[in-house]
Amino acid sequence: MTNKPSSGQIAAIGVELFLFTVISFYGIKWLAKILDPTSKQKESAKKQASFHAEKITKSLGINNLTELSEYEVSIAALLVDPLNLPISWNNIGGLESVICEIKESVILPFQRRALFSSSTLLSAPKGVLLYGPPGCGKTMIAKATAKQAGCRFINLEVSSLTDKWYGESQKLASAVFSLASKIQPCIIFIDEIDSFLRARESHDNEATAMMKAQFMSLWDGLLSEESVDVIIMAATNRPQDIDRAILRRLPCRFHIGLPQVTQRMEILQIILQGEDMADDVDLTQVANHTEGYSGCDLKELCRLAALQCLRRQVVENDDSQSSCEVLQPIKMSDFLNAYERMKTNDLMLPKLSS
Ligand SMILES: Nc1ncnc2c1ncn2[C@@H]1O[C@H](COP(=O)(O)OP(=O)(O)OP(=O)(O)O)[C@@H](O)[C@H]1O
Ligand SMILES: [Mg+2]
Repeated sequence: MTNKPSSGQIAAIGVELFLFTVISFYGIKWLAKILDPTSKQKESAKKQASFHAEKITKSLGINNLTELSEYEVSIAALLVDPLNLPISWNNIGGLESVICEIKESVILPFQRRALFSSSTLLSAPKGVLLYGPPGCGKTMIAKATAKQAGCRFINLEVSSLTDKWYGESQKLASAVFSLASKIQPCIIFIDEIDSFLRARESHDNEATAMMKAQFMSLWDGLLSEESVDVIIMAATNRPQDIDRAILRRLPCRFHIGLPQVTQRMEILQIILQGEDMADDVDLTQVANHTEGYSGCDLKELCRLAALQCLRRQVVENDDSQSSCEVLQPIKMSDFLNAYERMKTNDLMLPKLSS
């Protein structure tokens, strides 16, 4: 005779099984947490991100943070208040023609939506690529665009997507797009896009390949919705390394090249405005002899010249045993000295004659 378990016994086994599963689940989760050496940092990074997200969203006038998913809050931490960006078109030298085109084709459609919606040909591009050598103002232009357009700006740090567990990256990538549409008008800025969306390679691991594919399909979703005011703006030094499919999605392209002599002159004037300069400083000579310098190199040259001026003053003061707290004007000899230093640091080719 077989002993059939009573319904009470079956229920008890069921409860035991359920309890066992729940305890095992939370037990393993707890164990994984205490075994993970970075769990504390992760927890505090999460708290910080949500604090920052709350602060920035409030300052941007977004009050429905509770309506955002956990992943959207993480992305919201990358939001930048464009009004707080310490940059404007006036800080960018020698790029008037690019700025003019950006104003017409990117900013105007944002600001005069009604005017542009009457023609599909005129609608704002959904993808803009700034490309060219390092230190020539790509990041500056992207920030100034966001400021002038008065739209929200997600400064997408690629590491915030890629340094995640399998599966997390995809949720975050999708949160980038869903958050951008919730807070539109918005610019998603991807600096150094080549490091993130480079040409797909056979040795890409599965997670990377999946993320690229997913990013592109989310992007297509954005492209298909005419009414969504979200632009992807990307910058790169290496356009040849970008996946061709990505390039196709960035139809509006601006080359930001090394500055020519008149552009260098304008950049120097911007960098040096407000600085006290001696009468012997000939900026035309500096501009003429700095061929191959980027805006960033010119800034470094001016910084070294100012430093040299300070050094000279400290030495002179030491000699005269007096202390003067006012910086003396920068002299031409300081620029020549700075130029020599850059040359010996092997940063630039020798061009400036003394
Ligand atoms: N056209 C410019 N006018 C004024 N300053 C400039 C210009 N270009 C570069 N600079 C100076 O160089 C710095 C770096 O510029 P920026 O970060 O925009 O370069 P980038 O093109 O984005 O470089 P990278 O490709 O390395 O990211 C700026 O902070 C600014 O001081
Ligand atoms: Mg940059």
